[in-house]
Amino acid sequence: MRHDGSVAAWRRLATRDVVIDGVPVPAGSKLLIVSASGNHDERRFEDPDALDIRRDNATDHLTFGHGAHQCLGRELARMEMQVFIQTFARRLPQLRLAEQRFSYVPNTSFRGPEHLWVEWDPARNPERCEPALRRAQTPLRIGQSLPKSVTRQVVIDRITDLADGVRGLRLVAPAGQTLPRWTAGAHIDVECAAAADPASGGVVPWRSYSLCGDPDGDAVAYEIAVLHEAEGRGGSRWLHGPLRVGEPLHIRGPRNHFRMDEQAKALLLIAGGIGITPIAAMAQRAKSLGTPYTLHYSGRSSATMAFVDGLKALHGALLKLHVSDRGTRADLAALLMQARQAEPATQVYACGPPGLLQTLEAAAQAGSWPADGLHSEHFVSILTALDASVEHAFEVELADTGRTLQVAADQTLLGALRAAGVAIRSDCESGLCGSCEVPVLHGDVDHRDRVLTAAERAAARTMMSCCSRARDTRLVLGL
Ligand code: FES
Repeated sequence: MRHDGSVAAWRRLATRDVVIDGVPVPAGSKLLIVSASGNHDERRFEDPDALDIRRDNATDHLTFGHGAHQCLGRELARMEMQVFIQTFARRLPQLRLAEQRFSYVPNTSFRGPEHLWVEWDPARNPERCEPALRRAQTPLRIGQSLPKSVTRQVVIDRITDLADGVRGLRLVAPAGQTLPRWTAGAHIDVECAAAADPASGGVVPWRSYSLCGDPDGDAVAYEIAVLHEAEGRGGSRWLHGPLRVGEPLHIRGPRNHFRMDEQAKALLLIAGGIGITPIAAMAQRAKSLGTPYTLHYSGRSSATMAFVDGLKALHGALLKLHVSDRGTRADLAALLMQARQAEPATQVYACGPPGLLQTLEAAAQAGSWPADGLHSEHFVSILTALDASVEHAFEVELADTGRTLQVAADQTLLGALRAAGVAIRSDCESGLCGSCEVPVLHGDVDHRDRVLTAAERAAARTMMSCCSRARDTRLVLGL
C-alpha cells in the first residue's frame, strides 16, 4: 500500500480558494494529487524506496486518502488482504515467483501488475498431508496495525565499553541481511525486555537511542551508545547488564525526528555527553556532503567522553573538545557569534543535557539568533501530570468534518482525539519526538513540547497533541 499502492494519484476539485504551502489554488481548480509521491517522501519515511515490512509508520501512507475523505472501504480492503495472504501462505507455502517481466495496467488510480506468474508443485500442498489445514483459521485483525506492534528482531553482534558508563552495542539482522538505511539524527527504539519495572505494572519499557556512526556506511548493522543512568527508569541499567553477543533484541524504527538540513550553508554542531550520538552522525554526514561545519563536544571529563579518538581522526581541527575538569568549558555565546561571522545562515544542531541546551537557547535568544536556525534534541521531558485544578478545558473544532470535541482539564488533546475515533500517531507522549503533530488553523496554542523551534511556534501552524493545549477556550485543527 505504501511502496507501490494501487492508487498512484487521485483527482480533486478545489471548492474554495486555498493556499497550500504558499501556493495559491483558486476555487474550481482541478488537482491531480500524486499520493504515490507522498508515500515516498523522505521527510516522512526513512529510506523511502526500500520495501520494509517492519517499517512502523508504513500505515501513514496516503493510498487510502487522508482525513475526512479517506476511503470508506479501507478496513474491508485490509481484511480481504489479510484473508488472502494468510490463506495463500497456509495453503501454498511452497509458492514461488516464476521468471517474468512485469507490465502494469496503464491507470494512475487502479494500478497494478497485469499478471503475476507463480509456480508450485501441487503434490507438496500441505493439506494433502494434513487435511485439518484446510479448515484452519487465523484470527482477523480489524483496522490498521498499530505502529507500536510492528517490531524488528536483531541480534547483538558486539558489545564495547566506549567510555566510563557508556556501552556500545552493534546490532545486526539475524541472518545478516541489510537493514533499512537511516539518516543523521535518526533513532531506534529498543525493547528492554527484562527491565520491566514492577512499579509500572510490569510494562516492558521501550527506550530510544540515536544511531551512531556513518549513515552512509555499514548497511548491515546499527550502532547505539547507552549511558548508564543509575537513577533512570531501568532501560539503561538493563542494557548495561549481562547481555551476551548473539542475544536477540527487538527494535522499532529507525525514525528521524531530528533531521539535519542537508541544504544548510554551514553547520555548527554542539554535543554534550551522550548527546554526541546523533551529532557525530551529523558531522559525518556534513563531511560527506562537503558542508562547512564545526563540531563542539563537551563532557565532564575525558574518561566519560565516547568516540573521541575516532572523531579526532575523522574531523581533525574541526573537532573542538570542551572538558570541564580540564577547565575548557564551551562559551556557547562566543561559538554562536563566531559561526554567524563565518556564515550568517549557519544552522545549529545541539543535543545534550538540559543545562547545556538551556544555556544555548538563552545565548541564541540574547544574540538574536534566527528562531529557525537552532535545532535541539532533548532527552528529558519537562511535562508533569495534568492537574485539573490548574488546567482549563477547551473546545476543538475539526475543520475537515465540522465535528467539535471537548478536551477536559485533565485530558490531553491526543486523548480526546482518540476517544472520538480520530487516529493520531504518537511515540513518546512526552513532548519530545514530534510524532503526534496536528495542523492548527485557528487559535492560540500553549506549546509545551520540546520539538518545535521558536519560529515554528510563531508561525502557529502546528502543535503536539500529546502535551500542548489551547491558551484560550477554542482551537480549530486541520483534521
Ligand atoms: Fe512525542 Fe507527542 S508523541 S511529542
